[in-house]
Amino acid sequence: MNVRIKNNVYWVGKVDWELRHFHGSEYSTHRGSTYNSYLIREQKTALVDTVWAPYAKEYVGKLEKTVDLKKIDYIIANHGEVDHSGALPALMHRIPDTPIYCTAAGAKSIKGQYHRDWNFKVVKTGDRLSLGSKELVFIEAPMLHWPDSMFCYLTGDNILFSNDAFGQHYATERLYNDLVDQAELYAESIKYYANILAPFSPLVVKKIEEVLALNLPLDMICTSHGVIWRDDPARIVRQYLEWAKNYRENQITIVYDTMWDATRAMAGAIADGVREADGEVVVKLYNASKTDRNDIITEVFRSKAVLVGSPTVNRGVMSSLAGLLEEIRGLGFKDKKAAAFGTYGWSGESVKMLEDMLKHAGFEVREGGPRVLWNPDGEAIGRCRDFGRQIAADFAP
Ligand code: FEO
Repeated sequence: MNVRIKNNVYWVGKVDWELRHFHGSEYSTHRGSTYNSYLIREQKTALVDTVWAPYAKEYVGKLEKTVDLKKIDYIIANHGEVDHSGALPALMHRIPDTPIYCTAAGAKSIKGQYHRDWNFKVVKTGDRLSLGSKELVFIEAPMLHWPDSMFCYLTGDNILFSNDAFGQHYATERLYNDLVDQAELYAESIKYYANILAPFSPLVVKKIEEVLALNLPLDMICTSHGVIWRDDPARIVRQYLEWAKNYRENQITIVYDTMWDATRAMAGAIADGVREADGEVVVKLYNASKTDRNDIITEVFRSKAVLVGSPTVNRGVMSSLAGLLEEIRGLGFKDKKAAAFGTYGWSGESVKMLEDMLKHAGFEVREGGPRVLWNPDGEAIGRCRDFGRQIAADFAP
């Protein structure tokens, strides 16, 4: 399926319904993904990005049914990551001299991955490439989310090709933001932001403000994953600005792991206490070893506070929580509060260790969360409920 999306611009990408993990197994893709590639056929013909390597043969085969490959004048590599550059070796095997326009970091990244010295043309912000009556304008976007990332803008059609920014890992044959399930689209967009772009939030704000200051008319944002934003494309831009500025909702997320249900009982009692004290706050509970890690991270991103519970195991915490907190540390969420709780049988280090991990991950930690010896009895459950009530008051908006 190659589809005309506006005038002489075609979507020539791949919808990957099978994908369930991305970045190795760091990112879950419950709804698959797409690798969007675009063909612009003006007086000159330009190809914007390609697809992931496993689909290279299929991609090139379909592409040559749409255009004589030798008629492609320019390849634009907005980003060197393999999900967009993976079909370059197969394509360049057919058209080895075609220039590849990319940033300086892009040329290094692509050379480093494929060890080929293709005809790279390095561009910088503000450089233009004439396609005839229309031009591509290049805008470097370093660290959104790699050093080489770049946008390009097609004059006349008013299309921003934003690569990873504004994307979602969301397989759909319907292509446009106004044709898909809006709840699914929101869920995949915020998950993508929380798990991939959040570390770069200050740069997101700066880059969006820089692009808005150019006052370019904007009819479409063509991302490299998920839908094309054509219905009110500025909506996702506004949404990104909101997410990038220490985003939080009136939500407290309780994340725990448990060996024999004692820590789970504590989590439930704490949740009861929060709800008793504050009928407005949204409370969500997740067992870290039973819930998708990226989904939990998305909920933490939405939260004003997170409460983390673990029994003490081998003088430490359960591995699901250690891994989760390490990943959250890397994402650099800001302006969020936290506390810890847990059970123990003898040494009992878990609460203090969780507090240290939470501080290391950038949370403002309320220390001294409840510790319970063996299974919580009625008195301990009451203490957990009191702790929940106190948290609700302390962490009130
Ligand atoms: Fe979709 Fe950073 O690659």
